[in-house]
Amino acid sequence: MTRDPAHMTQKTLQPRPLTLSTFELPEGVTSRPWDYLPATAPEHARDLARREIEALAKTDGTVALCAGKACASLTPLPWDSGIFGLPMARIGGVYLSPGNAGLHESRALFSALLTAASDAGIQHIDLPLRVTDIAAIEAATALGFRVVACNLGMDWEVRRARTPPPASAVRVRCAREDEVAALGDLAAASIDTLSRFAADAYLPPQKVPDLFRAWAMNSLRGRADRVQFAELDGKLAGYCTWRLQPDYEAVTGAKLASLELTAVHPDARRHGVLMALVHDGLTWLEGRGVQLAEVFTHALNGGMQRGCSRMGAVTRTARYSLHWSADQASRR
Ligand SMILES: CC(C)(COP(=O)(O)OP(=O)(O)OC[C@H]1O[C@@H](n2cnc3c(N)ncnc32)[C@H](O)[C@@H]1OP(=O)(O)O)[C@@H](O)C(=O)NCCC(=O)NCCS
Repeated sequence: MTRDPAHMTQKTLQPRPLTLSTFELPEGVTSRPWDYLPATAPEHARDLARREIEALAKTDGTVALCAGKACASLTPLPWDSGIFGLPMARIGGVYLSPGNAGLHESRALFSALLTAASDAGIQHIDLPLRVTDIAAIEAATALGFRVVACNLGMDWEVRRARTPPPASAVRVRCAREDEVAALGDLAAASIDTLSRFAADAYLPPQKVPDLFRAWAMNSLRGRADRVQFAELDGKLAGYCTWRLQPDYEAVTGAKLASLELTAVHPDARRHGVLMALVHDGLTWLEGRGVQLAEVFTHALNGGMQRGCSRMGAVTRTARYSLHWSADQASRR
């Protein structure tokens, strides 16, 4: 690939505010939304992207920019910011042209968003990118973003995936509204040590359990469509949370759910708790007419991959989490 000098990029690509009325996906865009799922057809890409951008535009404080047909936006994360005690944001809605053009677009867009972040006092930014978005990864790392995690996207075709779990003493049930505190304690005690939060040396490690505690509690307070507990020997042993994705159904006609949080208490691992939770969740989804379910897990999370694939999941995508922090940038 021939690289143009950076100064030419600056001249030719001046990011400007994105307007939805003129939004178009770049020709041949490398990452079309949910394109790895079996129910997603190429013609769904524009509407799925449009819905993502519309949702971002409605979120307070979002800066959405375009450069040519490419776009990306920066959205403050008030909830994460409160837990970690520093202003945090995420770059999302990233749609770029393939190849060299995508490199130029991502350089222009990411550096303009870093300027917007600095103006807003943002000190930490999360940027998820597909592992195949080579040009965007190159541009982001040159601007000081660091790869902190690599996650695989696994999915189930729900009806086909109904593999029974191995016989075990695990009992799965729905969490009750009055169990919010117990769920929070379980989540804080069972964290994923490979997560992008735990892996980032620029985030205070003592706050990571608080993040999972609050996330799980919010899930039971309404963020999730279903929260399940697993019990083993009369004790809470694991939990998981499922969210339906109405935007996906509105565009493709197929129902999709995400397995958002899953964890098993360290004392209860390797007793089939994960498999029992997933099986119960898939049974519930099938009863609701849901065709597809997906989960993202770290590339090194062997237990999660083994348990989910034994319950019928297939790996279809992978993405990096890149983080930028003002602390680190000031030391460069
Ligand atoms: C990943 C996790 C959920 C697995 O839960 P679990 O209840 O121990 O899993 P199960 O007992 O149902 O085991 C599922 C399969 O994976 C295997 N497995 C479990 N842990 C494993 C590990 N650490 N390495 C390799 N294989 C493992 C089991 O042997 C079983 O396969 P098998 O029956 O063919 O032998 C649990 O380790 C955990 O909570 N980790 C921390 C939080 C986390 O990572 N959550 C997932 C975030 S996406």
